[in-house]
Amino acid sequence: MFQGKTYWLIGASEGLGRDLAGLLAEEGAQLVLSARNAERLDSLAASLPGARALQMDVTDDASVRAAASGLGEIDGVIYCAGAYEPMSAEAWDVDEALKVSEVNYTGALRSLGHVVPGMAARGAGHVVLIGSLAGFRGLPGAIGYGASKSALMHLAENLYMDLSRKGVTVQQVNPGFIKTRLTEKNSFDMPFIITSEDAARRTLGAMKSGRFATSYPWQMAAFFRLGAVLPIRLFRRLMGA
Ligand SMILES: NC(=O)c1ccc[n+]([C@@H]2O[C@H](COP(=O)([O-])OP(=O)(O)OC[C@H]3O[C@@H](n4cnc5c(N)ncnc54)[C@H](OP(=O)(O)O)[C@@H]3O)[C@@H](O)[C@H]2O)c1
Repeated sequence: MFQGKTYWLIGASEGLGRDLAGLLAEEGAQLVLSARNAERLDSLAASLPGARALQMDVTDDASVRAAASGLGEIDGVIYCAGAYEPMSAEAWDVDEALKVSEVNYTGALRSLGHVVPGMAARGAGHVVLIGSLAGFRGLPGAIGYGASKSALMHLAENLYMDLSRKGVTVQQVNPGFIKTRLTEKNSFDMPFIITSEDAARRTLGAMKSGRFATSYPWQMAAFFRLGAVLPIRLFRRLMGA
């Protein structure tokens, strides 16, 4: 499915994206690897056959435009860039909240808009957005993060509506806790946390499945998917609020 196909992986320098890059390269994909850290991208690109680094900051218009102009034609795009700061309403940091939102959501609008219309015109393509179980319902301490992930997941639904009959596959992959530098910031207990290697395997599986939405691990996914249809008061009680 990936042999000889070119994928633009945004958020490839660390964590889930970095591990997913390795798996996609094993499947024969040619990768264009984007993120801010050029050194990390270069070392990854050098270790994967057919991969190249394309530095880009998704929060910066000029940077995204420059990267998009050097991209060439691609078969698929994976939006895996993400930022997170634990933040409660009492400790609202305006700059940090905006940064998180810019990386998680506005950055997707800024970058995907350069490639998705071309896919629609060609009648072929693959768009994968990495959401989060935190995007299903409002959670405590998630100012900035929760709503931006929810917005990205909503964008996936918009894209599916527009593209499903045009030969472009659109998918949303929603992980629970993954052990990366993002979750190192959490001081609370993180149930069913998995490694980024495991998360990458599950994400690849989701991409191969062709399903619109995949959430993992199943224990956390079941809780949040059920939580999304429960009356909000019941969900809050389950969360101890
Ligand atoms: N960890 C979790 O528990 C968890 C749970 C659910 C969903 N997710 C989602 O999974 C995805 C990967 O997260 P992760 O945990 O693997 O975090 P990570 O290790 O911090 O990786 C995040 C990636 O995003 C890139 N990135 C951040 N800011 C960027 C910017 N301004 N421009 C371009 N790239 C940028 C980072 O690269 P540079 O720093 O080099 O720019 C890095 O490659 C994110 O979308 C995250 O929200 C994570």
